[in-house]
Amino acid sequence: MRLLVKGGRIIDPANELDEIMDVLVEDGIIIKIGINIDPQDSEVLDVSGKIVCPGFIDMHVHLREPGFEYKEDIATGTRAAAVGGFTSVCCMPNTDPVVDSAPVVRFIREKAEKAGVVNVFPIGTISKKQEGKELSEVADLLAAGCVAISDDGKPVKKASVMRNALEYTKMFGIPVLSHCEDLDLSHDGQMHEGYYSTIYGLKGIPDAAEELMVARDIRLAELTGGHIHLCHVSTRGSIELVRIAREKGINVSCEVTPHHLTLSDEILGDYDADTKVNPPLRSIEHIQALIEALQDGTIDCIATDHAPHHREAKDCEFQLAAMGISGLETAVAVIMDRLVGQGLLDMFDMVRLFTCGPAEILDLDRGTLEIGKPADITIIDPEAVRKVEPEKFYSKGKNTPFKGMDLKGWPVITIVNGNIVARGGIIV
Ligand code: DOR
Ligand code: ZN
Repeated sequence: MRLLVKGGRIIDPANELDEIMDVLVEDGIIIKIGINIDPQDSEVLDVSGKIVCPGFIDMHVHLREPGFEYKEDIATGTRAAAVGGFTSVCCMPNTDPVVDSAPVVRFIREKAEKAGVVNVFPIGTISKKQEGKELSEVADLLAAGCVAISDDGKPVKKASVMRNALEYTKMFGIPVLSHCEDLDLSHDGQMHEGYYSTIYGLKGIPDAAEELMVARDIRLAELTGGHIHLCHVSTRGSIELVRIAREKGINVSCEVTPHHLTLSDEILGDYDADTKVNPPLRSIEHIQALIEALQDGTIDCIATDHAPHHREAKDCEFQLAAMGISGLETAVAVIMDRLVGQGLLDMFDMVRLFTCGPAEILDLDRGTLEIGKPADITIIDPEAVRKVEPEKFYSKGKNTPFKGMDLKGWPVITIVNGNIVARGGIIV
């Protein structure tokens, strides 16, 4: 089976490529890239006017299975990923049971194989039961197929546990993904602490709640030589700490979410629980710092922190509502419309942040359009305009603060291992 992706603008940052060319795929592998490739007996996909990228990778999603299938499962979550333009997702281990043993990893991989439509790379826990007390059997988790470890959803409270995790993972060359939050400072907080939390009468979460842990974990990475990856950084102070760490040669990487880049704490005034997320949406000055950090390369990748919730978890008193945003189906359009479309981010950099950026952090053999590599391809129509309609999401999580917004620039075709899995927002 041959597929010729014809006439698109290929952007492949890993190979410094930005040119109109064709891509020829055979049996799931990229076999040729060039100008005017002879179609011979291939199925031809005319993508003129579209942007052809390596398959996008989302290194931070919550697929919720096993245990929380009423919020999301592997079948729905990977479909949401595919229509959102993602060919690979890494799933966080705060499931039930948590991913702290090889059988749970195997369950996820088998389920993904059977019911999933994109590549799924599981992440195991740092600590047993995600209790922050004792290190998980990390070697077993990696042998079973985990690509990293994280206690995401919660911070690792004890510095000694984080130290051991960083020390131990060095041997395997994988990062520790840290959810940076000082629970004592963030306690009961509902939104970012600042002018608007005062006006709206909601308990605030100060930027320092994140930054204290960023500082601790960077210092522990320095102590151990391990690789710390900071999940969903959201404050100016965190960015400043990462810059200093980089200058010192400390092994640190970080991600930012589309919502933290584009929405400010002012919108919490509607008391819409779909805006409630952890870390919280910050103030404009923090957003400006995040965008600058995207532009200057301080931020390594964009990840959604796709956190689907069932309706009852959001349609309740604001204080009781669950935290999280369903992000897979809007991420690319949000970045295209709000950043690329506004001249705040180059298209080339955006593709890097969704492809070789995350692939490099996790050492995945993906994220580039190279001959001989699996044909994971994301095709974007920069002119497509569509409204965000959560009721049409493949994800069970309809919890998005972007609902009703008209966005320009959408993923239109997603190809995984040579197969078209999504087209025009529909799973094929
Ligand atoms: O908003 C969030 N939701 N932040 C997290 O860290 C966890 C996530 C979840 O699992 O729902
Ligand atoms: Zn998360």
